[in-house]
Amino acid sequence: MSVNSLQKAEAIRALKGERTISMLTAYDYPTGRLLDEAGADAILVGDSLGMVMLGFPDTTHVTLDMMLHHTSAVARGVTNALVIGDMPIHSYDTPKQALITASALIGAGADAVKLEGGVNQVEKVRCIVGAGIPVIGHHGMLPQRVIEEGGYKKKGKTEAEADAILEGALALQEAGCSAIVLESVIPAVAERITAALEIPTIGIGCKAKDDQQTCDGEVAVITDVVGSYPWFVPPFATPRADVAGEITRAVREYISAI
Ligand code: KIV
Ligand code: NA
Repeated sequence: MSVNSLQKAEAIRALKGERTISMLTAYDYPTGRLLDEAGADAILVGDSLGMVMLGFPDTTHVTLDMMLHHTSAVARGVTNALVIGDMPIHSYDTPKQALITASALIGAGADAVKLEGGVNQVEKVRCIVGAGIPVIGHHGMLPQRVIEEGGYKKKGKTEAEADAILEGALALQEAGCSAIVLESVIPAVAERITAALEIPTIGIGCKAKDDQQTCDGEVAVITDVVGSYPWFVPPFATPRADVAGEITRAVREYISAI
């Protein structure tokens, strides 16, 4: 990581209370470059690439090699945004492995890394942050545990669950995270956690559809935003283009033109 990467992570952290932070996923050079040129604050090379780029049923099939391949492509296209490399399942089972994985993602061009989980991940976060690598947390619904969970469920519905997510978020902050992604946490709990933290929360699926922001920022999977993966659109997504329809139209036009 460079001084520049640390400055970028600090700049994201400092946006809390100033304005809404924009984060989107990208998995390749052109998308990374387009998002950067469009002014995204942060670009996440998410392990969601397993589904929306590689055709797997969930993120549990993604390997570190896949993440490195896509992270380096995105990083080549990005100048200004914070590039975050997602740490895939079983690439951070121990603090030592977590640091090796984080270093590899930084070597591929990421400015920061992201890992899933709360209280039980703080030692790993400390280890990575201690090496000078910015870490983004991820709490609430944890897609890498979708099989154990039996699906994608809203989190924080019971007081015990809400308290556990808040406790985890505070522990991640204490361990040195620059920001925390909150996924599918019910709006009232996302608001409570956002108010309790000094670092920004970046939400996905944490508000009533098209309703008021409950977090300090918002993250979206790029295929959901541009409509390029029509076979599955999460209920909380707002497609703002129909890229799949445009591809189909252009290819049909090409086929009939030649
Ligand atoms: O992999 C991903 O796209 C993510 C976001 C949903 C936060 O982790
Ligand atoms: Na992810």
